Amino acid sequence: MKVLSVVGARPQFVKLAPVATALRAAGHEHVIVHTGQHYDVAMSDVFFTDLGIPAPDTHLAVGSDTHGRQTGAMLAAMDGVLEEHRPDWVLVYGDTNSTIAGALSAVKMHLPLAHLEAGLRSFNRRMPEEHNRVLTDHAADLCLAPTEVALGHLAAEGLADVSVLVGDVMTDVLLTVRDAVAGTENVLPGGVDPAQRYYVATLHRAENTDDPQRLRAIVDELAGLDAPVVLLAHPRLRARAAEQSLDLSRGAVVATDPLPYPALIRAAMDSAGVITDSGGLQKEAFLLRVPCTTVRTETEWTETVDLGWNVLAGGVSGLAEAVARPAPQATDATPYGDGHAAERVATALEAAGRGRALA
Ligand code: UD1
Repeated sequence: MKVLSVVGARPQFVKLAPVATALRAAGHEHVIVHTGQHYDVAMSDVFFTDLGIPAPDTHLAVGSDTHGRQTGAMLAAMDGVLEEHRPDWVLVYGDTNSTIAGALSAVKMHLPLAHLEAGLRSFNRRMPEEHNRVLTDHAADLCLAPTEVALGHLAAEGLADVSVLVGDVMTDVLLTVRDAVAGTENVLPGGVDPAQRYYVATLHRAENTDDPQRLRAIVDELAGLDAPVVLLAHPRLRARAAEQSLDLSRGAVVATDPLPYPALIRAAMDSAGVITDSGGLQKEAFLLRVPCTTVRTETEWTETVDLGWNVLAGGVSGLAEAVARPAPQATDATPYGDGHAAERVATALEAAGRGRALA
């Protein structure tokens, strides 16, 4: 079986890592296409190096642009790539512009399409990711769901017949990296003392970064926290803060560049809490049993909230209060699987491929 993965943004490289390993272990041919949506070394290359992902076979180098132009550039470039490889499956990941571009290119070429991390919903149609994931699920021949909740959403939208629960591949990576970095020295950026209480924060979503008043209010809340906040600043956050002459490093906040994945997990592991608008980090905090406060009004990873480890503080004004809440109740729940989701992805692709009598 020949699988062609389309990735382009930071969280997709994390998801690709265990899938690449599982496909290789099962003896399948795997072609990796990098769209170039993320291109800074800290946003792309370090993930390939640190997580042992084979170098991309093809790099489309599209770079940043408006959503339409960025997605369109990927779509235009994909035709030749798919023509050359004619894979048994095109595999797309998550909910970024690279996901929807990979999905559209596959269906236009009549190639079987599988969507990894299918069925997640925020029910917020103002998020570009919500459109990307809904449209990709409905285009896909195979929806690979990370959770029971996601599987339920797919069923409710009439997609039960093409859906299978595989678990969350980010859990596969997290558990491996957690075990590898546990016991290693925790070196925090910005000179923050890891022996003291500290928080880890990330902010990158347009709804938080692009409204000057809102961004200022969030940074004010972080600045007033009772311990240092290591703010791992995505390039978008840096750019918007600079446009607004907003100094990110003030009060408790120490703004630094994004960390490589193992260093991020090491930092989060010993932190007093995580504050984020990232989807992946909410879940990683839960898996590390670190309280998370999410700067959004909704989440796709509702299990983290239901189990008490994540609080939504989209209103911003209650953010500091939410961060200071008492520790949640211990839990041994495993809503995100057992760390072997990627193996199930390989098996599901094979099984569905046989059903479809692929050449
Ligand atoms: C994208 C995804 C989002 C995901 C996030 C992970 C979409 C619609 N959004 O958001 O779902 O959570 O990736 O990080 O696909 N930039 C750089 N260097 C880079 C990449 C980006 O400087 O390597 C800057 C550019 O100014 C760019 C901006 O960041 O315009 C935003 O990048 P983009 O890929 O459009 O969206 P993200 O916010 O990263």
